[in-house]
Amino acid sequence: MDDQSGAGSSHLWIEPGHDIAQFRAAVVAGLARADKALPCKYFYDEIGSRLFEQICTLAEYYPTRTELAILDDRAEDIAAAVAGTVSVIEFGSGAGHKVRRILDHLAGVQAYLPVDISREALLAAAARLDDDYPRLAVMPVWADFTKPFALPDGLPPGPRLGFFPGSTIGNFSPAEASEFLAASRAVLGAGGHFLVGVDLVKDARVLEAAYDDALGVTARFNLNLLARINRELHGGFDLGRFRHVARYDRADQCVRMWLESLVEQTVRIGETAFRFRRGERIHTENSYKYTIENFQVVAAQAGWHPTACWTDPARLFSIHLLG
Ligand code: AVJ
Repeated sequence: MDDQSGAGSSHLWIEPGHDIAQFRAAVVAGLARADKALPCKYFYDEIGSRLFEQICTLAEYYPTRTELAILDDRAEDIAAAVAGTVSVIEFGSGAGHKVRRILDHLAGVQAYLPVDISREALLAAAARLDDDYPRLAVMPVWADFTKPFALPDGLPPGPRLGFFPGSTIGNFSPAEASEFLAASRAVLGAGGHFLVGVDLVKDARVLEAAYDDALGVTARFNLNLLARINRELHGGFDLGRFRHVARYDRADQCVRMWLESLVEQTVRIGETAFRFRRGERIHTENSYKYTIENFQVVAAQAGWHPTACWTDPARLFSIHLLG
């Protein structure tokens, strides 16, 4: 990478984020299991990232607008609590809308590092931020943040703020979330803070509608995983022979999504054939929900201290500041 380090320069720090052989291996391994499953991170190709942006605007999908409202209401409080932050590292930055709410209120931030698995979404968002924040060094990192990744050289010294909005942490089980939070504590270092958006436990009907919207956008988002396998791995999925299913499991406070085979069928992916019974499901996503107290316990297990927590008046969503 080049070593321009002045404010306003756009750094490009790219890790080889999508390896087709890895994708094939993950798909083949996931579909060979008795309980078929595919990793949710593969939702986000260019089409999937666009569909997710559409999900965020749906009437039923309350998390995005609720979190944005909390960020707007509490921006001053957040800025005061993390004063002195020099760089902001966002895990799963997507289109990069949310971080603006923070950057607009944080004086003294020199660098912003969006980390995302979707190369197209990452580069487009980084370019827009670079235009809109000329004094900020925007340093995109193309990486899978669920695994250890390298931070670019030339990161200014000083306290770091991690930003992990959207309740993406809900994709992890509580045990995995705790592991991730512990690893992020090492990355964010001494004096660092972590701002984490966490969706709250609520009525099953509200949750299931949020993950199975009337317009069918979430269904298309889920089914796009099969379309992506067709496109990239020469798969033979007939999308009309699968349906999207989303259910809330009260016992472990998790919304799960699956793709259910409507018929008995065999699907080929390259050389390999996979059998599906009628009604057999591929598990594609977990979206764990928390109470405020439950999340604080998970964070504490990872060594973080709860500094503050903000919610909306209806208590749909929470934003935790950890220190
Ligand atoms: C991006 C993981 C936060 O779990 O709510 C939305 C993804 N899946 N609708 C979520 C998602 C279906 C979303 N996260």
